[in-house]
Order: sequence, then C-alpha cells, then structure tokens
Amino acid sequence: MIQKYLYGVPFDTESVVAPIPASQGDPPVGTVKTSESGFCFACPLAEGDRVYGLGEANRGINKRGFVYVSDNVDDGLHTENKQRMYAAHNFIVISGQQNLGLFFDYPARIRFDIGFTRRDWLEVTCERADLALYVITGDSACDVVKQFRAIIGRSYIPPKFAFGFGQSRYGYKTQADFEEVVAKHRQAHIPLDMVYMDIDYMDHYKDFTVNPEEFPDFSGFVSKMKEQGVRLVPIVDAGVKEEAGYSVCDEGKEKGYFCKRADGTDFEGTVWPGWSHFPDVLNPEARAWFGSQYKALTDCGIEGFWNDMNEPALFYSPERLKAFFESMDELSRKDNIVQDEFFGKVVGGALGLMNAPEDYASFYHNVNGQRVRHDRVHNLYGGNMTRAAGEAFACLRPGRRTLLYSRSSFIGSHRYGGIWLGDNASTWAQLLANIQMMPNVQLCGFLYTGADLCGFSYDTTPDLALRWLEFGLFTPLMRNHATDGSRMQEYYRFADMLPALRKMLRLRYALLPYLYSTFMKAALENTSYFRPLGFDFPADPDAREVQDQLLLGEGVMVAPVYTQNASGRHVYLPEAMKLYRIRSVDDYDTELLPAGHHYVRCALDEVLLFIRPGHAVPVARPASCTAQLDDTALTLWACPDENGSARCRMYTDDGETSDFAAPEHWKTLEA
Ligand code: NOJ
Repeated sequence: MIQKYLYGVPFDTESVVAPIPASQGDPPVGTVKTSESGFCFACPLAEGDRVYGLGEANRGINKRGFVYVSDNVDDGLHTENKQRMYAAHNFIVISGQQNLGLFFDYPARIRFDIGFTRRDWLEVTCERADLALYVITGDSACDVVKQFRAIIGRSYIPPKFAFGFGQSRYGYKTQADFEEVVAKHRQAHIPLDMVYMDIDYMDHYKDFTVNPEEFPDFSGFVSKMKEQGVRLVPIVDAGVKEEAGYSVCDEGKEKGYFCKRADGTDFEGTVWPGWSHFPDVLNPEARAWFGSQYKALTDCGIEGFWNDMNEPALFYSPERLKAFFESMDELSRKDNIVQDEFFGKVVGGALGLMNAPEDYASFYHNVNGQRVRHDRVHNLYGGNMTRAAGEAFACLRPGRRTLLYSRSSFIGSHRYGGIWLGDNASTWAQLLANIQMMPNVQLCGFLYTGADLCGFSYDTTPDLALRWLEFGLFTPLMRNHATDGSRMQEYYRFADMLPALRKMLRLRYALLPYLYSTFMKAALENTSYFRPLGFDFPADPDAREVQDQLLLGEGVMVAPVYTQNASGRHVYLPEAMKLYRIRSVDDYDTELLPAGHHYVRCALDEVLLFIRPGHAVPVARPASCTAQLDDTALTLWACPDENGSARCRMYTDDGETSDFAAPEHWKTLEA
C-alpha cells in the first residue's frame, strides 16, 4: 500500500509518475514536525531492522549507523567519513519487524540520520517543510521496492551494445589515441564495444563541438570505428563555455536559456572550459533547446553519451574569486599571519571556492514563469540534464535506443538514463564500496549502472584490476576509466595478468544472455538485478547480515574477492547452491555446497558464481563485441532442484529498437 502525505507547497520534482491521492494527517509510522525552520520525520528503529536504499551513498548495504546528506556534490574522494555524493536518492526501506518504504520527494539538501545520534532512531530533516512523503508498506522488502519502482516509472533501457565492455581514460586526445586503443584491444583479443571520449575530443571543451584539427572527418571516424564493432561515446558537460561566436553560448544567451543571477544577468562560473554558463534544464523550453544540441553529434553517427559535471560542479565564480583575492591582499599586508588565519582564510578560503553554497544560492531557474533559486532545487539539476538528452533522443533517434548515463542524478532521471558512480579511487575499499552501492542504487530505479573499474584516481595495481573486473563483469555498465596522470590501466597493459584479464572479459560476453535477460526482466517487471541476501532470506539472521555478497537476478549469487593477496573468502549460503569456480568459460570446476558458512578458495584468476537450486544460466560462446554474440548456441550451467529440474527465462531482442512488449522476446530454457 502506498500513501502520500503533502507538506507545505512541494516543488513538482516529477520523480513520481503515478497519480496518488494525498492522505490526510500524518503517517502512522512515525512523527512529523513542521515549522518555519523546517521539516523532521522521526521513527524508532528496532534492534534487528536493516535500512536499505539511499542509492549512491557511502558505507554498507545496510545504511544504519551514519548520517547521509542528499546535496549533490562534485567530490571524488569517497572516504568513509563523507556524507554527500554526486546523487540524491531519497528512498529508504526499513526491513525487519515491518517492511516500510519512505520516499522523501524533496529537491534540495536533506539529511538522513539513520541511527547515528541514537542507534534506535531514524530522523530525516530538511530546511523547508515543502515536500511530499510517500509511505509504502509491503509483505517484504522486495514487495516494497516493487511498489516504489511502479510509481516512479520504468527504468531506462540502453541498447544492447552498452552491455559490452567500454574502455575510457581522461587523456585520450587524438584520433590516433582512439585508434590505438581499439587496435590494441583487438590485437590482445580483448572484447570491446565502446571507447569513451573524455573532454579532450572537444574544441576547447566546448560542448557539442569536436576538435577539427584532431578529427578532420569525425563522421567518417565514427563509422570506421563502428565497422570494427566499436561505438565512440563522447562526454557532454553541464557548463557551456562563454565565448562570442560559439553558437551554443550565443543562442543560450540570446534566448535567455541560461541560469540567471538575481539581477537578470547570466550566471557565470568556471569549469573545464573556463568561464561558463549553465543551461536552465529546469525550464522545459531551455531543456528542449539544450537537448536539441546533441544533434550535432548524433548527426555524426554517435549513439551514446555520458553527461558529466552536472551537480553542477563549480570551480569558482567571479564574485567569490574576487572576494578571496581581496582577503588575500589584506592578509599579505600584515607583518605576520597567525595559524588560524592561514588555515581558515588561505587554505580554507581557497578550498571553499569550489562548489560554494553561496554560489548555488546566487542563481535562478525559470520554471514555467516562476523564478526559483537554484539551491532550493539543487539536486534536480543533473537529473534534468539527463532528461534533456533523453527527451531529445526520442525526437533525434525515434524508435532507437541511445546509450546515456550521467554523473549526477535524482530519482526520476532513472527513466531517461543510467548513472555511473562518479570518481572513485584505485583502492580495495572502493571495490567493496562498488559492490555495496550496486543494490541500493538499483532499488532506487537506476538499473544501468557501474563504477570506474580499476579505480579512477591513484595508480591501480594489476591484482586490483583483475579482482575489480571479476566483480565488474557482472555489472550492467562495465567500463574501465581512469584520470589523467594516473598509471595507464587499459587491460592490455598488464602483461602478466593479460591471460586472466582476457578470460574474464570473455566470460562477461559469455554470460550476457543471463545478464541481459536479468536486466530486461528487472526493467520490464520492476524486479531486481542485484539485491541483498536479506531480501530473499529475511528470516535468516546470517543472510540478513551479509554485506559483501549479492543475489543477481533469479538464479545467481556472486561473492567477489575484494581484499589484496586473498586466495579465497568467507561465503555464507542461505541455501544449498552449486558453486562454479571459473577460470574461463571453458575452464571451471563445480561443487554442490550445502547451506551454511564456508571458506571458499578463489585464486586471483578465478571468479565465484553460485547457482541457486532449480535455476540455470545460459552461457554463450564469447565474442569480440556484442554484435558478434551468438545467443542461439548456448550451454546451460545449472543447479537442479530436488526433482532434477533447472530452468531460466531468457530474453532476446534486436538490442536496438524499443519494442520490448512482444511475448516472443521470452523463452524458457530447461537444463
Ligand atoms: C569528472 C568525471 O567524473 C571524470 O570521469 C572525467 O574523467 C573528468 N570529469 C574529466 O572530464
């Protein structure tokens, strides 16, 4: 059952698409306090309650014991103390004595104290009492999530090639760079479907342009790559460079489509291109206009994009920079500065220039004629940039699927694109974070998701690259991405690990019939792709505790190794399962393991896949790209039930068009 409670005058975020009448009074499941100074929802947490959700948030699968703040921020260092990330996914599920979903439909900063101040207490607070609160009760956590997914609308479905492997790096600049990446993958017999183009493909970081010197015939280059089975996927940033003569800037200014300061002038801030303007993607007309700009690239044959820097990230504004320089001037005239001044004004002042709250409070959107201050709707910005693109693709590429994912997001934008988990680091802790984030992100509707494999910042190590791939091969979005200046980490660079890395990438392609079917089922039927063990085994106290194993679709459980120099790990089985210890699609051993606690050996070049009783996994022959994948010649890996039967439901389609409903897409395979 779903009930909606309205407080004050909520901003229409369009997160929820189902019409739900508002209930009177306050929800019976907690206490609500509203006042001039804000909103507070509170309820007790019983000792055994787990709290799932919050999507892209720090810490474990169970969010209990910390504070999380939805206030989208460009901060790539996700140490355990960080409360804010790139996204705002304000949906939680309390699962224990009851199964309760709470969605706080509020577009600005909101704080979730989940047993931090008091272990037995949940408190959700925000500055203004203008919001919609959805309360969902159900028989199980799965049921609550399913109801939630039904009201927020169908999750985005990418083209099939997007389930292949993509190579990326901030630093590829020239056509020769991209050609080399493709050639080296092919030479090393590593499958490849996409190469990502980071900001250096552009002409001076101007959105929707291509550096004409490096790419004299961009369309020709795009089609040449496609002939080799590779899609080029360019980045698009939120900030539009201020430059007279650059049509996107000129037009945006002329039509009034950029965010404005209080005095009506166009707001400016610095990001990669230097001084930039920010398209007012909350204004439907401006959103349509910004979306239409993607045409410059789709006309060249581009079929996929990633939207970046859309919190929106702000390095500094002219106003704040001036004030900072003035305070430095003043300080420089002093004979001696004390430590407080050094750390507070010099260091703090410089760091405080980035993503400054004062800047976010200094510009405005035009929402259907109403002027809305940005900080009051801050968390909607990235999601509406995704929406701009998604809505435009429906016109630019009618009937065809376009790859799209974003860094920043809000529930609602899951209908238009996926997300990647933003900047991470080449550390083992971040591999675990990736594992733990996946089910929570997906239960908020973002099914097409994954993290930067190997890690984005710092230098990766060959064993981390391999272990991360052994998890990444199960994630819908599978991309190796790194920052400029870090160790080169294309898989073909790790000579000693190459045979194992290649086998794992080929395994991904072999498993695509299962992974793609699971994704399509999750998208079309509001079921899950990844989910915590506690969802299926809520009565099993050991299963409820598990934070590092995931159920994947109907028939599979994964238990990735995420510690360095480990040749195995502890695995808990809530039921008997068949273990496939896989070195390659042709080289694996199997073992039927009883329910209970096990230490399972898993050498560096092995991956553990557990099949649940009665289920089968269709396995294809590996291919060099998705277009080459033959999903008619399948082997079934299976764990028969007590009657000796095992089956799976498999989905196939052309991978390009959007006719998902036809029943002939589905067939049942029996082992
Ligand atoms: C920030 C993004 O998170 C990262 O993936 C990208 O490489 C850089 N921006 C440069 O575009």
